[in-house]
Parts: sequence; C-alpha cells; structure tokens
Amino acid sequence: MSKVLVTGGAGYIGSHMCVELLQAGTDVVVLDNLSNSCAKSLEAVQRITQKKLNFIEGDLRDKSTLAKLFEHNDISAVLHFGGLKAVGESVNNPLSYYDNNVNGTLCLIEAMTNADVKTIVFSSTATVYGVPDTMPITEDFPTNPINPYGQTKLTIEHMLRDLHNSDPGWSISMLRYFNPVGAHPSGEIGENPNGIPNNLMPYLSQVAVGVLPRLQVFGDDYPTHDGTGIRDYIHVVDLVRGHLNALEFLQDNPVLAIHNLGTGTGHSVYEVVEAFEQASGKTIPCEVIERRAGDAAESFADPTKANEELNWRAEYDLHRMCVDSWRWQEMHPRGY
Ligand code: WQD
Repeated sequence: MSKVLVTGGAGYIGSHMCVELLQAGTDVVVLDNLSNSCAKSLEAVQRITQKKLNFIEGDLRDKSTLAKLFEHNDISAVLHFGGLKAVGESVNNPLSYYDNNVNGTLCLIEAMTNADVKTIVFSSTATVYGVPDTMPITEDFPTNPINPYGQTKLTIEHMLRDLHNSDPGWSISMLRYFNPVGAHPSGEIGENPNGIPNNLMPYLSQVAVGVLPRLQVFGDDYPTHDGTGIRDYIHVVDLVRGHLNALEFLQDNPVLAIHNLGTGTGHSVYEVVEAFEQASGKTIPCEVIERRAGDAAESFADPTKANEELNWRAEYDLHRMCVDSWRWQEMHPRGY
C-alpha cells in the first residue's frame, strides 16, 4: 500500500496535514527530528483520527535514515514541511537555516531520486516576495526575500525548478503560504511555539490565557486604515486542505507549479485583536512600540490561481480562526 511521507509532520502545519491525510484514507509516514516540535502532537493526531501513522524520529540530513525510510516504505509522494521558520532567528543564525532548510531538502531530493519517488509538495512562503510595491500579490511578482529564512525558501524553489528542468519526470508543487493561524476544531493540536512566540496569533493567544501580560503592537504609523500592519491570515486547516488538492493536481498534471495559499483578504493587527477578544471573551492589553525591522505595511494574496487550478478556496474567516486558536490555547495554556 503506497504511503505519503510528511517531513516535519510533528510540527504545527505538518500535524494538521497528517489529520487530513489520515481522514482521507492515506497511509502516513512522518519524519521529524523534534527540534521544533513535540511527539505529543502525533499522539493527538492519532486520537483525533483513530488511525495509526508511522513516526520515524530523524533528521533530513541523516542520509542513512532517509535511505532506510524509503527502503522500508513504499512512498508515492512527499509533503515537505521539515525546516526552520523563524525570521528573526534566521537573521542571527543564517548558516543553520541554510544547513537545515537547503541542505536538508537536498538530502531529501537525493533520497527520493534513489528511490525513484518524484512527486513532492513543498512548503514555501510569501516571504519570498519580500516587500512588494503593490497588492494583492500574484505568483508572477518578483521574488526578493529580505531575510535569510525567505532566502533559503527561494533557494529551494530554484533548486526544485532546475531539477524539474533537468528531469520533467518530477511533479513538483510549491505552495507559498501567507499567514497560517488557527487550530484543528478539536482543540487537540495547535500552534506550539518554543519560548516567546514571534508571531501575532500565538502571542496574543498567550496574552488572552494569562501566560503573557500584554501584546506589543509593532507600530501604529503604517499607511493603513488604522496604522497597524495588514496580513492575509489563513486557517491552518484550509492551508493543509490546499495540499491535498495540490497532490491531486500533480497526479493529473506532472508539472512544476507555484501557488499562493491565502484568503485574498487582509486584516490589521487591531482587527485581529478585536476578533480574538470577541472569540475568547478576554481583553487583550496592548502597548504600541516601534515598528519591527523588515515588516511590510501590507501583505495579502491574490489566490485566484490556486482557486482555479487547484479547485481550492479558503473557507474559514477570521472569527473561526480566532475561535479555534482560543480553544487550543485554553485547553493547552502551556502547549503540549
Ligand atoms: C503579523 C503582524 C506584525 C507580533 C511571519 C513570517 C512569515 C511566516 C508567517 C513562516 C505584523 C504584527 C506581530 C507581535 C505585532 N512564517 N505583530 N506584535 O511577520 O507577517 O510573517 O510569519 O513562513 O515568513 O515572516 O507574521 O505574525 O510575525 O506578524 O504587532 O508581537 O502582526 O508587525 O504586522 P509576519 P507575524
């Protein structure tokens, strides 16, 4: 029975992907080094779905682990989430990002080639666009990342593009995520950042549950309707369902494809705070401080290409994103 390999499957997005795959009747193998995730997420995945998955604790850069994995499992496709993803950390420690993300992906592609597995869905990011001049963002916008994290993701995109040009037998989907937030409606899995969260939604979730005292708003002097930054938040369940559609798309079209995964709607920081207060019934104390270096005023997708080619559309609105985030946080004030 062919299986799908999910690298980074114990992580925030990877664990939500495993739920959808298992519920779609697909057998799942997870490879994760647990450097930025917790195996308890996979126990929760199996509880939610009442199905088993095969978890291998290992590093993408460990070639013998990869070779054994492909030898012992009939893998038909790979969903590749494994990698580091904190922008600030990448600025301070760029080489660890190139080693984990680029070198890790290179090792994965080599192992896939040796096993004659040539279908991959790659977790890319809207960060590859840098700070575009206009909105909304389409896939043909120039790519100009402004931090090492985004640079590693673009380097991997170029590696995959050159691989496909050298061997069109590869079916490659590169999905550029906007801002994934929210959690599975069970509240059993969710975003579980190590230490103080960098991103808005997990940070304000921890303020609401009392773990953090207040939200620091990074600037209220942007050229937006209320002065705060605007982003395209997308529910993580919508996001991973887009991956199922991308896999199906590759089955019918052995190509290299790039798609934005976003809702096409932007929300400001204050709009997210208000939605979260409504969803949680909690008050979020806010303190405006200076802008965060590298932040854009606005970033939101034009998701038309994915809507049409992948027959996929984000369903959940900001309220549902906040309700599901809050349920996870309230059930797990300190994470797994
Ligand atoms: C959102 C808005 C902040 C925190 C990042 C990565 C991107 C992707 C998603 C991996 C901005 C404001 C935030 C806070 C705040 N990750 N903010 N106070 O920066 O759009 O994207 O996460 O793929 O690659 O760059 O998301 O959640 O950090 O910020 O005011 O404590 O919230 O200024 O306007 P971002 P974010």
